[in-house]
Amino acid sequence: MTTATESMVETHLEDLDVSRSERFAERMLSAFNESALVLMTSLGHRVGLFDAIAGAGWLASHALARDAGLDERYVREWLAVMVTAGVVDYDPASQTYRLPAEHARFLTRDSVPNNLAATAQYIPVIATVESDLVGCFRNGGGLSYERYERFHEVMAEDSAQTVVSALFDVIVPMVPGLHQRLENGIRVADVGCGSGRAMLTLAAEYPNSRFWGFDLCAEPLERARAEAQALGLKNLIFERRDLAEQTLAEPYDLVTAFDAVHDQRDPAGLLRSIRCALARDGLFLMQDIAGSSELHRNLSHPLGPLLYAVSTAHCTSVSLGQGGPGLGTMWGEELAERMLRDAGFRSIDKCRLAHDIMNVYFVASVGSD
Ligand SMILES: C[S@@+](CC[C@H](N)C(=O)[O-])C[C@H]1O[C@@H](n2cnc3c(N)ncnc32)[C@H](O)[C@@H]1O
Repeated sequence: MTTATESMVETHLEDLDVSRSERFAERMLSAFNESALVLMTSLGHRVGLFDAIAGAGWLASHALARDAGLDERYVREWLAVMVTAGVVDYDPASQTYRLPAEHARFLTRDSVPNNLAATAQYIPVIATVESDLVGCFRNGGGLSYERYERFHEVMAEDSAQTVVSALFDVIVPMVPGLHQRLENGIRVADVGCGSGRAMLTLAAEYPNSRFWGFDLCAEPLERARAEAQALGLKNLIFERRDLAEQTLAEPYDLVTAFDAVHDQRDPAGLLRSIRCALARDGLFLMQDIAGSSELHRNLSHPLGPLLYAVSTAHCTSVSLGQGGPGLGTMWGEELAERMLRDAGFRSIDKCRLAHDIMNVYFVASVGSD
């Protein structure tokens, strides 16, 4: 005689495509391994293990620990993760380890802008707020930036890879005549500047131009100001500002927003304020996440689960936490374009960069279509 639960399960199983079900279980198991690898990749990046092992040939764990200035027992256990995940080669006879050059070129600080180990840090960053998110799921609302351990630090590293590394070769040349205008001297504002990496780099390169960086959060601005001081930059100001309350006033020749609009308390209001603050012939350069506003169009997006996860755990939450609409990381190019037009931008060009599968660039102005 079967119990009620057993017969329910049996009836249910009869209706299942068992091989599909088993394939799914296998996939989930491999997801556990991959997510463990991502966490350990982030840790390896932070403690400098990839930099220490890259190019060093075959090394014993104690030699690697010594070179990296770390505790051998932890290093050996981390190496076991990397070996079983196929990242690091292992020679059992000599008990030595080697990072193949083919892997090192995506894992070390020298490999910027292709350092995937730096990108891996987003997963532990969003994991720090899991318990807070349980509350958000139950009660609504969102989280403040301060709840996320190391968010601004990781964002600054990401910005160095995706934006700063391409500024002079690709991003500035993307806008016809911009390099010359920056050389001659224009006024530039960066909204949601975070740690200000892009503005710091531009201000150093174009001393005749003046730069402003605005952000809601004090912590990244402190880092930005310290770097500006260390570089001796006099043409750059970082100012704490909630852009939903204090809009842009000056006429600017160029306004930039690097991955910052969808997180805002009032994204539509910010876009209007940018349009109003542009000087004649002024331009708005907006970098944001590449993807569609429609879920079904993102089914084969190479970073779909990652971007929706960052959205769930961060971008949506920080906007809702400010009382914003929670557009989310994947607000998408269709909605972004619609909102730019609604804000009064009539000329909008879109551009993707070869080194950056995650982002898309909009160059918008009030000029005619
Ligand atoms: C994803 S980060 C991007 C930071 C920076 N642009 C970069 O690329 O490194 C978004 C930034 O928008 C800022 N932000 C969010 N809401 C804001 C608001 N209401 N006013 C001003 N800045 C805001 C955050 O503090 C954060 O630094």
